[in-house]
Amino acid sequence: MALFFSLQNFVVLLVLVLISLCLLPLARPFTVIMSDSSGLVDGPQSGYSINKNGIRTDPHEQEAVYDIMRATGNNWATDIPDVCRSRWHGIECMPDKDNIYHIVSLSFGALSDDTAFPPCDPTRSYISPSITKLPHLRTLLFYRCLSYIPQPIPTFLGKLGSTLQTLVLRENGHVGPIPSELGNLTHLRVLDLHKNNLNGSIPVSLGQVTGLRSLDLSGNRLTGSIPSLNFSVLNILDLSQNLLTGSIPPSLGTCHSLIKIDFNRNRLNGPIPNSISGLTNLMLLDLSYNSLSGPLPSPLRSLTSLQALNLKGNSMGSNPIPSHCFEGLKGLMVLVLSNMNLHGPIPESLGRLTNLRVLYLDNNFLNGSIPSNFQDLKNLSELRLNDNRLTGRVPLGRDMVWRMRSKLRLYNNSGLCYNANSGFEEDLDSWSHPGIGSCDMPKPESARIVRHLSTSGPTTFNVSSDAVFKFSVYVTLLQLTSFVLCTLTLIIAVKIFIL
Ligand SMILES: *[C@@H]1O[C@H](CO)[C@@H](O)[C@H](O)[C@H]1NC(C)=O
Ligand SMILES: *[C@@H]1O[C@H](CO)[C@@H](O)[C@H](O)[C@H]1NC(C)=O
Ligand SMILES: *[C@@H]1O[C@H](CO)[C@@H](O)[C@H](O)[C@H]1NC(C)=O
Ligand SMILES: *[C@@H]1O[C@H](CO)[C@@H](O)[C@H](O)[C@H]1NC(C)=O
Ligand SMILES: *[C@@H]1O[C@H](CO)[C@@H](O)[C@H](O)[C@H]1NC(C)=O
Ligand SMILES: *[C@@H]1O[C@H](CO)[C@@H](O)[C@H](O)[C@H]1NC(C)=O
Ligand SMILES: *[C@@H]1O[C@H](CO)[C@@H](O)[C@H](O)[C@H]1NC(C)=O
Repeated sequence: MALFFSLQNFVVLLVLVLISLCLLPLARPFTVIMSDSSGLVDGPQSGYSINKNGIRTDPHEQEAVYDIMRATGNNWATDIPDVCRSRWHGIECMPDKDNIYHIVSLSFGALSDDTAFPPCDPTRSYISPSITKLPHLRTLLFYRCLSYIPQPIPTFLGKLGSTLQTLVLRENGHVGPIPSELGNLTHLRVLDLHKNNLNGSIPVSLGQVTGLRSLDLSGNRLTGSIPSLNFSVLNILDLSQNLLTGSIPPSLGTCHSLIKIDFNRNRLNGPIPNSISGLTNLMLLDLSYNSLSGPLPSPLRSLTSLQALNLKGNSMGSNPIPSHCFEGLKGLMVLVLSNMNLHGPIPESLGRLTNLRVLYLDNNFLNGSIPSNFQDLKNLSELRLNDNRLTGRVPLGRDMVWRMRSKLRLYNNSGLCYNANSGFEEDLDSWSHPGIGSCDMPKPESARIVRHLSTSGPTTFNVSSDAVFKFSVYVTLLQLTSFVLCTLTLIIAVKIFIL
């Protein structure tokens, strides 16, 4: 009897386990979205602050941390007997060989939801000079900390000399110039002064920081020209959204490790230097909204890693798009050449950039017809050719027209027309290319007719979302069916077993 009872218990348990297995197909995958602060902060420093008995924080550094915390309105920290042993987010320590803890990293400001560094009291915060009493400090980060009381970047930071590797003063409200003393931080790898109110010119002394990997001075009011650059390991150079003048220094081409160059929205003039041909690792080049001149330089085609090129808003003189410029750029996904006063035809070589996703050639004086090989750009999802002088048939297939919909802009061209059955007639968003009629119909009337037809009734429907919906219904049905079948099998099996 007792045996039977426990056997029955076992069966019940087994059935429960199997039913929950049956539920598996109903489970949906989920995604964890993590914010990426890797560009700002050095890699993980786990292990630095492992508490061991007998280890304590250097008393001088502890006093300095109290000062720094008080200066940011974080007085609570002064009640903490040992800052490294009862550490908080934003402080990292490392023991030396005598088991004394040293502060290697201090961070302030809510960078994101999962990096809650101590916030600064905006009404009275400042950067305490006691920071110079932390001789082991590698990382210093202040994010949105001092914006209520604008203050210059303290020159004493230059005294952190040879240890500091990462200095981030981002959206911090700093005014005045970038102190030339920062050039004394010879071991700096990351300098991020994004979005302050810094003025004056970029100090030449920064050229001494030869180990820089990331230099972000964007979103300030820096003037003067870009100094000569000699950074062999620099990956990221962002000087965008300043008031920089003069030409792009040819020495830029010696920074062979560059992956990203962003100079957008400055007042740079002169040609793009030929030396950029040396930047074979470059993936992103954004020089948009400057006053650069001259034809597009043929060395562009040496940038074999390039994925995104934006030259929008540089009125480079009435030049054509050189056909050979883009021959080597097989990986190019984004090409923006809008508002550049470009003349002449669209070169066929653009149609061979089969990885293109975004192509903007709008607001130029391009004439001739759209190259027929544009229909081979299978990955293209945005195409702007509007405000040009293009003529002839639009060589795009029905699938491309439907895929791009309103992301396809063709309006204000002198003589473009579409083939019957190319998908234009049914396009709900035909407002994005008004004035373009069927090649088989007389032109004047067609624009109105097309527009009227396509907006008058819900004859079109969203193919892609409809298909996605059908697919997900199908998957759900499949999941339900397998659940029901699985459970039925189980019940039958259990019945057979018990009877
Ligand atoms: C730090 O830099 C400034 C200006 O660049 C210079 O005058 C000074 O001598 C440097 N200090 C040290 C200790 O190197
Ligand atoms: C920088 O801005 C301050 C005001 O914030 C002004 O007094 C100073 O002259 C400016 N310096 C330069 C070089 O523009
Ligand atoms: C550039 O820096 C390297 C060391 O990183 C140095 O050897 C070279 O002389 C510098 N070149 C110029 C032109 O300053
Ligand atoms: C389109 O993009 C995919 C990746 O999203 C890539 O694998 C494919 O090669 C691209 N197509 C063409 C024609 O280059
Ligand atoms: C395009 O414009 C140029 C002048 O910018 C002219 O020489 C050429 O003949 C034009 N081509 C066509 C096909 O209209
Ligand atoms: C049409 O495009 C040309 C540039 O090719 C531009 O100058 C003109 O202003 C545009 N016309 C309208 C009505 O936007
Ligand atoms: C088509 O579906 C996409 C999402 O799949 C949606 O963003 C878009 O607004 C839809 N367009 C229309 C016209 O319903």
